[in-house]
Amino acid sequence: MAEVHHMRHGSNAGQPITRRDGVLKVTGAARYAADNHPQGMLYAVIAAARIARGRVAALDVAAAQAHPGVVEVMTAANRPPLAVHPDDKSVPFSFRMDLLQDDRVRYAGQPVAVVIAETLEAATEGAALLAPRYRAEPVEVTLDAPGAFVTEVVGVGVPGEQHYGDLAAGLAAAARRIEATYETPTQFHNAMEPHGVVASWDGDALSLDMPTQGFALTQMRLAALFGIRAEDIHIRSPFIGGGFGSKLLSGPQVLGVLAARLIGRPVKLVLTRAQMYGPVTHRAPTRQTLRLGAAPDGALTAVHHHVRTVTSRFDDFLEPAAGVSHTLYAAPAIATTYEALRLDIGTPGFMRAPGEASGSLALEGAIDELAAACGMDPLEFRLRNYAEVEPISGKPFSSKALRECYAQGAARFGWSGRPLTSRSLRDADGKLVGWGLGTATFPALMFQAEARAVIRRDGTGVVETGAHDMGQGAWTAFAQIAAESLGLDVGQVEFRSGSSDLPNAGIAGGSAHTATVGSAIQAAGEQAVARLAELAVADPRSPLFGADNIGVVARDGRLVRWDDGSRSESFAEILDRAGLEMVEGRGSAAADADAAERYAMHAHGAVFAEVKVDPELGQIRVTRLVGAFAAGRIINPRLVKSQYYGGMIWGVSFALHERATLDRRTGRVMNADLAEYHMPVNADIPSVEAILVDEEDPHVNALGVKGVGEIGITGSAGAVANAVWHATGVRVRRFPIAMEELL
Ligand code: MOS
Repeated sequence: MAEVHHMRHGSNAGQPITRRDGVLKVTGAARYAADNHPQGMLYAVIAAARIARGRVAALDVAAAQAHPGVVEVMTAANRPPLAVHPDDKSVPFSFRMDLLQDDRVRYAGQPVAVVIAETLEAATEGAALLAPRYRAEPVEVTLDAPGAFVTEVVGVGVPGEQHYGDLAAGLAAAARRIEATYETPTQFHNAMEPHGVVASWDGDALSLDMPTQGFALTQMRLAALFGIRAEDIHIRSPFIGGGFGSKLLSGPQVLGVLAARLIGRPVKLVLTRAQMYGPVTHRAPTRQTLRLGAAPDGALTAVHHHVRTVTSRFDDFLEPAAGVSHTLYAAPAIATTYEALRLDIGTPGFMRAPGEASGSLALEGAIDELAAACGMDPLEFRLRNYAEVEPISGKPFSSKALRECYAQGAARFGWSGRPLTSRSLRDADGKLVGWGLGTATFPALMFQAEARAVIRRDGTGVVETGAHDMGQGAWTAFAQIAAESLGLDVGQVEFRSGSSDLPNAGIAGGSAHTATVGSAIQAAGEQAVARLAELAVADPRSPLFGADNIGVVARDGRLVRWDDGSRSESFAEILDRAGLEMVEGRGSAAADADAAERYAMHAHGAVFAEVKVDPELGQIRVTRLVGAFAAGRIINPRLVKSQYYGGMIWGVSFALHERATLDRRTGRVMNADLAEYHMPVNADIPSVEAILVDEEDPHVNALGVKGVGEIGITGSAGAVANAVWHATGVRVRRFPIAMEELL
């Protein structure tokens, strides 16, 4: 086969182009799942439990049925049979579901019936008319509930407990010790687009419009539940209004599919905003105790990160909050331990930077406390404990430009002028000013993906893969990678995605979508180019004849001799002479087990925050945020910065705004709406900057790309909290920080 050199220069990757689907979204032309109305479609509305534990004693099905427009009420009595129990979770990353299997209520907001009607209004009214009566049992829904913590919880993706070195000896040897407990709240995903589905059956073939972060996993789970073939399930998901980890298959979406099965017509089911605080997972609260010791020079002697968290009574997700302590700081002894309380709540799940978000908030706070106890600048303290290798595994990092992140972020922020003591800066209005730092970290993961690339006779390209764009701009980045791999301009490549009928792109999760799918696209494109090169170099009529050992490169729609740029031929000419309509390449990508064995792979960053606090009112304003991140190669700086901004703003939200409050008597979320579940608005984020720090990683994957989707939250929440301490001298360890705690 002809040698094909890979061309990076003069290509589209690396350019800050805008989202290709941006105009469709801002003009309202983008068709989201719930915008679909197949012929004969009915509307389904969930009736959700108002108790958190007990049984449904009665439902007034007759009243709902009698309402004009109501077609059917689906309850445990008449819902179609399933091939496996809803608690079956043999499909990876899946949760136990509530699909009307019996009269039990396991958490508030659990679906207890589905009303199907000709209009949304009729279905909504029908659901209200069901007026369930319950046999309620006492509930426990908070982390401070009495009850035995369990340690035998196996959570999805949990890094597990680790014990490295002699913790007791490390703590005993310390000149300075701190023990601090940090509390983080329950958070809900609150994606702009609610979870929903439009489902149509045709015999045993199923057609779905629904937002999803993973086509194949969704197909596998639905195939198992309904006893049908995965390839007979066709899912379209061209636009997703946010997912954050909640948009793998959810129970309510399956109820929509069941309703369509029951009634024999297409059905649309969409959750209300309030219903998203229940059956679609959430971020579990944590109570994390950090025990740290340091030598007189500030070198850590021991790190113990203990996590108390909660899970549901019926499933096993565990928030892996201590994982950050495995990688972030060098110490001769590190231990991470977990325990969980089972509560009458819906099962927690993956939520953007699961584990790292809450874990880094606690660790960064404790590190800041220890720096202060040692009388050291927080940045100097972190550099003193810089991990040259991954502490707990001893592996070298595949790349780690964290030092450069600290340096560039500090320079941009002006950190060097920071006084060591708290409560020593004021602005002209008398506000207390504080500066805080947090280190950001997130693993660089790879899942599995496949892609197909075609070069057509007219010289243009097509690239196909069933990838997911939740708003992060994935499709734009993929089109750029596709164009680069084919040696075409991005405008000459048709990128097809968002359908389960395309090659399997795996999941959009773990900040690994660009790395994984991008690598598959690159491989597919390179194979298509190689096929073209074979045609050219073997053909005496081509200017590239005989170039097989020298090699060619694809550039601007042409194959060019590697050693002689004047000898080239266009894609169209090559295909035309060969009498072919197209050449095709297939590519796949997966984690490199050998590299993972040898290297620790993580993205890193440093976030600097300035806050101003009103000394009389305790009101906190974040006035500046500067984050510097190193995440390998950057495909599109505009999109990457946008991801960092979003993450950093979530960090502010974590530190100062977000909390779901559960009613101890009923178990219900008391602020299940966007008015009372606080999130930052523009006025809360006056200045946010993201610096892209150069980092080359030859090991992490073929593209050298690490993920950028989740790392922005990590470090940011801690930076804000540490800045609040620096402004006020008050160390608040319960989040979100409330103004009354500062008075
Ligand atoms: Mo994310 S929590 O991996 O969608």
